[in-house]
Amino acid sequence: MEKKNYRIAVLGGDGTGPEVIREGIKVLEAVSKKYSFKLEWVNYDLGGERFKKTGEILPDSVLGELRKVDAIYLGAIGHPDVKPGILEKGLLLRLRFELDQYINLRPVKLYPNVESPLKDKKPEDIDFVVIRENTEGLYVGAGGFLRKGTPNEVAVQESINTRFGAERCVRYAFELAKKRNKANKLTLCGKTNVLTYAFDMWERAFYDVAKEFPSVKPDYAHVDATCMWMVKNPEWFDVIVTDNLFGDIITDLGAMIQGGMGIAAGGNINPSGVSMFEPIGGSAPKYTGKNVINPLAAICAGSMMLDFIGQPQAALAIEKAVISSLTGGHIKSLSAGKMGLSTTEVGDLIAKNV
Ligand code: IPM
Ligand code: MN
Repeated sequence: MEKKNYRIAVLGGDGTGPEVIREGIKVLEAVSKKYSFKLEWVNYDLGGERFKKTGEILPDSVLGELRKVDAIYLGAIGHPDVKPGILEKGLLLRLRFELDQYINLRPVKLYPNVESPLKDKKPEDIDFVVIRENTEGLYVGAGGFLRKGTPNEVAVQESINTRFGAERCVRYAFELAKKRNKANKLTLCGKTNVLTYAFDMWERAFYDVAKEFPSVKPDYAHVDATCMWMVKNPEWFDVIVTDNLFGDIITDLGAMIQGGMGIAAGGNINPSGVSMFEPIGGSAPKYTGKNVINPLAAICAGSMMLDFIGQPQAALAIEKAVISSLTGGHIKSLSAGKMGLSTTEVGDLIAKNV
């Protein structure tokens, strides 16, 4: 029998995170009624405030509970009073690593009526997906200092790449490129001309796995060239696969060409475990509590979450409601404070349109 009840852990997090997640929940509740499934929300107050009060970032007991939910819905992590790195590493990265969410999936899609900074580019030109490896590379925190604080200081930060990690990531990307109804093309984004160990291995893994997918065209671009083409010829891309840091960087560029952080969503995926969905923008401290932040990215992340837990039609209904609210001209701009509607009103509008 098809599963009908889902337990979702809600980590609103810092800054505007809880505000945008609240609207996402509103929309997901509306769509769940229409498609007859139930969402049970379990709230966790992790983030900067709890850390300041108790010193806790991600207690093991909470991590244990998160291992058992159907998905995690995350707002934003990052607090102005907490030194950069503490919450990011202790919470966001730790969750990605502990739950082995080895895929960071970030669609770059320009919706109709959304202004892209790229002149003359239309929705049909900007529609690709970036698959970012999410558990290795420069993010693992390998390295250290020698003679710290002295003029002879040495800082080493190593990029860790395993054949297993690269291979499972490229295989996921090939599967997506095969399934996606576009050019069936997969571009490996690397730096084989300089990072001659890490990307040599990635490239061998890529072309080995390519043999399992004769219907997908394998393609390669250096990361710097990828940046150029994302701006000049975004229509060349269908699916891009890359390592953790390059993926971090090119997906911020991707977010901008699709209309900004207000609309960019992503998923941290463990295909056989617990996945976590989030708007990719930050906690936006200066907009916190003002009811002006754009919740569309969180709403789109909610749609991705439904797709992954097994409610693809409900997911599509949300995406359609987002598109119709944009084409209907109800939302003037995707930027915080310029939407012509409040955060709550955008949530109401999408919830009504599903
Ligand atoms: C992202 C963010 C994180 C990352 C930060 C907050 C650690 O920028 O999800 O892209 O670098 O992965
Ligand atoms: Mn980032």
